[in-house]
Amino acid sequence: MESGEVNPQLLSATINTLFGGGKGLLAMDESTPTCDKRFAAVGIPQTAEARRAYRELIITTPGLGRYIGGAILFDETIRQTTKEGVPFPKFLADAGIVPGIKVDEGTNDLAGHPGERITAGLDGLRERLLEYSNLGARFAKWRSVITIGDGIPTRGCLDANAQDLARYAALCQEVGLVPIVEPEILMDGDHTIELCAEVTGEMLFTVFSEIYQEGVDLEGMILKPNMVLPGLSCPIRNSIDEVADITAETLLRVVPAAVPAIAFLSGGQSGELACSHLNAMNLKFRERLPWVLSFSFARAIQHPALEIWAGEDTQVSAAQNALFHRAHCSQAARCGDYTTDMETTK
Ligand code: 13P
Repeated sequence: MESGEVNPQLLSATINTLFGGGKGLLAMDESTPTCDKRFAAVGIPQTAEARRAYRELIITTPGLGRYIGGAILFDETIRQTTKEGVPFPKFLADAGIVPGIKVDEGTNDLAGHPGERITAGLDGLRERLLEYSNLGARFAKWRSVITIGDGIPTRGCLDANAQDLARYAALCQEVGLVPIVEPEILMDGDHTIELCAEVTGEMLFTVFSEIYQEGVDLEGMILKPNMVLPGLSCPIRNSIDEVADITAETLLRVVPAAVPAIAFLSGGQSGELACSHLNAMNLKFRERLPWVLSFSFARAIQHPALEIWAGEDTQVSAAQNALFHRAHCSQAARCGDYTTDMETTK
């Protein structure tokens, strides 16, 4: 194969491993500032060793590989090891969990577009992807954020973010990494669910237009979208079925059937709510969905475990039980088998 040529079999094999057996993804790729913010909220010291210990707690959860097919790491984490000195990517691979890596470098203000953001990290990305591949990563993630507000998002913001997502995806495929393409419409604001659906549909349409133009292999990528939800301060709260219907219908209109898998972010929803929404989509739309509809949750899997651990060695096992439970519920929701009874009979 010539350099720059994509190996579709390799990409498909990775995607099958990530989602086979009803599994989904665990996002544990919080940047250092985000991880420190979550630690500060529950009184955990914000040190490299605390972050390492927390990530070790997560990946050494017994049996996690039954429900989690892949874990997304951060640059600091992919270089860390367990107490016994096993590199995290090797520990994960040995546990049947494919290691992945967040490769964007966070967001900055988009010049000329007050209130809007653009994701950094394309410069030097080809070299960084090769390094991550050598460290054991088999897939990657890039997140763009879109805010709904007064007069935003603008067309310029959607176009700029969508083009960067497509260029990142093409670079990943060139080195055999499966790109997770994550255009996140934020929940902040008082917008209605209908407006969220409109913006989500428009952004996804823009992303896939760029993906065609950049020559990205649709069969070798994963889409990580937001669920379609009302803004956090919108007075109208929608039912589980309403969210499931509008989310699935929005995706059905714009996501090509050639894309093998969609894995939702949780976006700050509780684990229970995120699972209820995912489950309803898989139940109600089972006959119509051309793609796997799965999860790539961070907070909706990790949050209870982080609170229980709170930095205490004596709490590791209880925290791992909580993490395992949320991973189990998420996997059940991906299969349409989740019920809220699972929350009381753990
Ligand atoms: P949440 O599930 O907490 O939204 O995080 C997913 C993620 O990876 C955000 O980029």
